[in-house]
Amino acid sequence: MNDIPARPKRRTGGRLRPLLGGACATLVAASSVVLVNVAHADTTRAAATTLKAAAELSGRYFGAAMGQDRLSDSGFLTIANREFDMMTAVNEMKPDATEPTSGHFTFSAGDAIYNWAVQHGMRVRGHTLAWHGQQPAFWRNLSGSALRSAMIEHINGVMAHYKGKLAYWDVVNEAFAEDGSRRQSNLQATGNDWIEAAFRTARAADPSVKLCYNDYNIENWNYAKTQGVYNMIKDFKARGVPVDCVGFQTHFTGGSSLPSTFQQTLSNFGALGVDVALTEVDVTNAATNQYQGLTQACVNVPRCVGITTWGIRDSDSWRGSENPLLFDRNSNPKPAYAAVLGALNAAPTTEPPTTPPTTPPTTPPTTPPTTAPTTPPPTGQPGGCTATFRMANGWPGGFQGEVTVTNSGSAAVSGWTARLTLAGGQTLGSLWNGNSTGTSGAVSVRNADYNGSLAANASTTFGFTVTGSSNTAPSDVSCTSS
Ligand code: G3I
Repeated sequence: MNDIPARPKRRTGGRLRPLLGGACATLVAASSVVLVNVAHADTTRAAATTLKAAAELSGRYFGAAMGQDRLSDSGFLTIANREFDMMTAVNEMKPDATEPTSGHFTFSAGDAIYNWAVQHGMRVRGHTLAWHGQQPAFWRNLSGSALRSAMIEHINGVMAHYKGKLAYWDVVNEAFAEDGSRRQSNLQATGNDWIEAAFRTARAADPSVKLCYNDYNIENWNYAKTQGVYNMIKDFKARGVPVDCVGFQTHFTGGSSLPSTFQQTLSNFGALGVDVALTEVDVTNAATNQYQGLTQACVNVPRCVGITTWGIRDSDSWRGSENPLLFDRNSNPKPAYAAVLGALNAAPTTEPPTTPPTTPPTTPPTTPPTTAPTTPPPTGQPGGCTATFRMANGWPGGFQGEVTVTNSGSAAVSGWTARLTLAGGQTLGSLWNGNSTGTSGAVSVRNADYNGSLAANASTTFGFTVTGSSNTAPSDVSCTSS
C-alpha cells in the first residue's frame, strides 16, 4: 500500500489578504486584535472546473464511493480520476468483507480500491468497523462479552492493516433508531457502552486517523434521531471519548429530502468540536435545488470538511431507479453538477481564529503595566499522579474497566505509568489508550504516544477488558509520573 496523500490546506492566506481592506485594516491597526472567523466569498479567484478543484479552494474534499467491480469500468474511472479526491469503498472494508471468519482477515478487495485511489492522488475514508449490517456470519452466533471481544478484535485487526493510511474511519455506523434511542442490535445488547468501547479501541489502534460516527436521517435538527446522536457526541466530548467527526449520510432518496435546518445541524455538531462531513449523498432525480442546498450547507460551516456522493453515475447507485447522482448513465454531468460546482466555487473563506494580523500594530500601548505580578509563575515542581478505577461493564466471567489518571501536581508531566493487580485467575484482554506489561497479577500500563502529556489537574483514561471466573475489581491501583 502507499502512504496517504496530504490533504489540501484550508485556504486562508494569499487569496484572502488582498480583500482585507477597509474595515479589516482598522481591526489590524488596533494592535493585538485577532481576526476571528472573517468569512466572505473570494470574488477575485478563477472558478475551478472540477468538483475536487472547486472543493479544494476552501480546503475541502469532494469524494465518491466505489465497489471493486468499478476498477474495470473505464468510464467510471475516468470521471473518478478527473473529479474526485476522496474515495470510500462501498462494501469492501465492511466487517463481513474484512473478517469473513473469526481471526481471518482479508484485505485484497479493500486494498485494490485503496491502491487505485492513492495512486490517483486521492485520500480514502474507511467504511465501516462496527455496524448492525453486513456483519461476519460468526458474529451472529455470539453475544455478550464474546461478541464485544470479537468487535474489539475486529477493529484492532482491520485498523492495524490500514494504520496511518486512511483519512477517516467510520468507526460505528447507524447505531440509532428513528426515535432517538439506540437501535436494538446484537452489538447494543452487549452493553450501552459498546460505541465508546469501539471508539477507544480505534483511537488506541491508530492515533493518526480521524474517527467518525456515521448515520442517516440525522440531517434535520428538529428530528429525534438527530438529537439522540447529538447528545451522544456531546456526552463523548465531555467525557473524553475519542470521537473526531460525524458523518451525515445525506440520502435524500427513498422519501427523504433536504431539510431547511441542515446547515443548523452541521453547525451545531461542529460547535461540539467535531468535524462534520456529508458521506453518502444521493438525491431523488438529482434535484438541482437540493444538491445546491446541501452543498451550500456544508460550505457555510467551517467544520464541514467535505462531501461524498454514493457512486458517480446513476448506474452506480444503490437507488439507481431514482437517478440520484451527479452524472447520468452516459457519464454526462447533470444540471445538479453545475449547481454543486457553483456552490463550491462560491464557498466563503474562513480565517481561523489563531491567525495573527499581518501588519504590526502602529500604535504602541500607552500605559505600561505598573504593578508587578504578585504570584510568581510555577517553578516546575514535579507533577503528581493519582489513578482511580471504574468498573465500566461486568458480566459472568469478565469485565471492562477504566482507569482515570490525573496529574495532581502543580506542573505538567510528560508521561505516566499506572499499576494495578488483577485477582487470581484473571487475565488482561484488550487494552486501549495505553501500553501494558504483564497480563495477570501485577500489571503496569504506560501512557500511549498521544496521552502522556498532562497539564496540572488534567486527566486521561485508559480502558481494558479482563477475562476470568470472577469480576473482582483490581487492587493496588496507583501511578507514577515522569
Ligand atoms: O456480492 C453479492 C453477489 O455475489 C450476489 O449475487 C448479489 C445478490 O443479491 O448480492 C451481492 O451482494 C450485495 C452487495 O451489496 C454487493 O453488491 C448485497 O446483496 C447487497 O445487500 C449489498 O448492498 C449494499 C448495502 O450497503 C448493504 O447494506 C450496497 O451495495 C451498499 O451501497 C450499501 O451501502 C450502505 C452504507 O454502507 C451505509 N449507509 C447506507 C448505504 C446504502 O444502503
